[in-house]
Amino acid sequence: MMNTKPSPDNIMRLINGYWATGIIAAAASHSLFTHLENGASTASQLAHRAQISERGAQSLLDGLVSVGLVDLREGQYRNTAEASAYLVEGKPASLASFARLKMTHMGSVADLAEVVRVGGPVANPVVEVANNPHWEGIVTAIAAQSVPAATLAAELLGLAEAGEISILDVGGGSGIYSGIWLEANPAARATQLDWEPINAVARRLLAERGVADRFTCVNGDFHTTDFGTAQYDVAVYSHIAHQEGPESNIEVFTRLRQALRPGGTLVVNDYVVDDDRSGPAFPLVFASEMLLKSKKGSTWRRSDYHEWLTKAGFEEVLFHSAPPGTLVIAR
Ligand SMILES: C[S@@+](CC[C@H](N)C(=O)[O-])C[C@H]1O[C@@H](n2cnc3c(N)ncnc32)[C@H](O)[C@@H]1O
Repeated sequence: MMNTKPSPDNIMRLINGYWATGIIAAAASHSLFTHLENGASTASQLAHRAQISERGAQSLLDGLVSVGLVDLREGQYRNTAEASAYLVEGKPASLASFARLKMTHMGSVADLAEVVRVGGPVANPVVEVANNPHWEGIVTAIAAQSVPAATLAAELLGLAEAGEISILDVGGGSGIYSGIWLEANPAARATQLDWEPINAVARRLLAERGVADRFTCVNGDFHTTDFGTAQYDVAVYSHIAHQEGPESNIEVFTRLRQALRPGGTLVVNDYVVDDDRSGPAFPLVFASEMLLKSKKGSTWRRSDYHEWLTKAGFEEVLFHSAPPGTLVIAR
C-alpha cells in the first residue's frame, strides 16, 4: 500500500521561501548566472570569475540547485534553460536586476500580518506618495517585464508600419514602450506622463537608444494632469492599474478614451487574475504586495478590466498572454 502520510518537505520549502529570494538576488548581484552562461561550471571557477569566496560560491550553487535554477551533472554546474533566458545580464528580458531589487523589499514583508488586519499600508506608504524615490529603483528593474508586452503589442497593432502615429504612455517609467515602439517606427512620436525624476531616467534611456528627439515628457500626477482630447493613436497604461482602485481605473480609462482619436487603441499591461481568482500563481501573490504598498490596489480580474473599459466607452476588449503579465487591448 502507498504511504499517504503528508510530508513536511513542501511546507519547509515554503516557510523558508525568503531564502530563494536571497539566494537568487545574491547570485544575480555577483553575476553568477552570466558567469555560468560563459562557461564557468564549478564553485572554484565561479569564485575566481565573480571575485567571491569559494565557500560562498558553493553555498549559492547548492541553493540554486535546490530552487531548480541550476543543474548539476557529474560535478559540473549549468544554468537551466529558464535561468539562461531570464537571469543572464544583458538580455532584454533579463530579470537579474528585478531579483536584486526584491532583496531590498524583503524587510517590508514583516509588516504583512498587521497590514492584513487593518486592510492597507501601516508604514512606508509607496503608491500615494508624490515623487517617491521608490520608483527610480523599480522602473528600470521592471522594464524587462514590459519588453515582451511592448513587443507583442507592436506586432498585434502593426505599429512598425503605422506611419506618423502619436503615442501617450501614462506612468511610462523607464520609457520602455516608447523606446521599443519609436525604434520600430521612425515616424512615430511619444509622450510620457510621469513624475519628474522618473521622466529624467526615461529621457536618458531613450537618448541612449537614439530616439529622444521624438520623445516628450510631461511631469506630474496622472490623476490630475489633463490627457487632452482626440490627440493620440495609441495610449499605454502598464503596471499601473494594480496600484489603483476600481473608481480610479474607470476614471483614468475614461480620460484615456477621450485622449484617443476615433479608432485609437488603449494598451493595458498588468498582472491579471482569472475571474474565479484561481490563478495565475504570481498575480495571486502580488495582491498582497499591493495590500502592503497601496490604499486601494490589488491584482484585478479579467472581468474587472472588461467592465471598467466598457464603462469608459471602449467597444472591444481583448486579452493576450504576455508572461508574466497579460496584455489588454481596448478599442
Ligand atoms: C510599476 S511602474 C511601471 C512603469 C512602466 N509603465 C512599465 O510598465 O514598465 C509605475 C510607474 O507609474 C508612475 N506613477 C505612479 N503613480 C503615479 C502618479 N500618481 N502620477 C504619475 N506617475 C505615477 C511611477 O513613477 C512609475 O514610473
